Amino acid sequence: MNTYQELANTVVISPKKNRLIHYDDSLKLIGTGRSAFVFRISNSSKAIKVFFPDFTYIAKEEAEIYKVLQDIPFFPTIFDSGLNYIVMDYIEGRTLFECVNKGIPITTNHIKEIDEALLLASSKGLNPSDIHLRNIFITSTNDIKLIDVARFRQTKNCTQWSDLKSAYLLYYKKRLFPKKIPATIMNTVAFIYKKQLIPHHLTSSKG
Ligand SMILES: Nc1ncnc2c1ncn2[C@@H]1O[C@H](COP(=O)(O)OP(=O)(O)O)[C@@H](O)[C@H]1O
Ligand SMILES: [Mg+2]
Repeated sequence: MNTYQELANTVVISPKKNRLIHYDDSLKLIGTGRSAFVFRISNSSKAIKVFFPDFTYIAKEEAEIYKVLQDIPFFPTIFDSGLNYIVMDYIEGRTLFECVNKGIPITTNHIKEIDEALLLASSKGLNPSDIHLRNIFITSTNDIKLIDVARFRQTKNCTQWSDLKSAYLLYYKKRLFPKKIPATIMNTVAFIYKKQLIPHHLTSSKG
């Protein structure tokens, strides 16, 4: 394969239901989001994010934002981008979603590092948004990495991270709160949250 665009072109996604139909043997599917499939490129430490047909416009936006963030170590390096894809560091580790699902502890220090990453992004004039458990990694060397920065230039205020932090302090940190939660329960809570059906006092640590 000569270029990353050629590699991205081997990824065939059905336009109606965004079903993955085909991809090159040198790719290994590592994640599915709401806008893209993400693959590890074999024999490399790179990942390629290939956007669904209706979401290809995001590739350029996300690549531009990553470029602004390149000197901040909490974000992956990007190597290339094109019409429907971005090539970046493959992150060895687990998302916070996987950590909670598998019972891997999330420490106050991890939370502090995420705060620091978001502050550094804000200092670049960005507005970190869409910060949720599947977009935050604890790497195999116990560092924090943030991905999926496509919405960092939106102007709308996003309270997702401050709500997650409140939930961390109000619930997760409590001794008796279960540290391992089934995916179905997490997905249900996320769904109810998105629908804005969680009463404010249950997520507000300010009383
Ligand atoms: N660079 C990466 N290294 C390892 N896994 C990744 C990487 N980028 C994305 N993933 C995995 O793929 C999933 C979807 O990627 P993401 O960029 O969040 O897509 P979307 O914009 O569609 O939400 C992530 O939740 C994560 O599990
Ligand atoms: Mg995502």
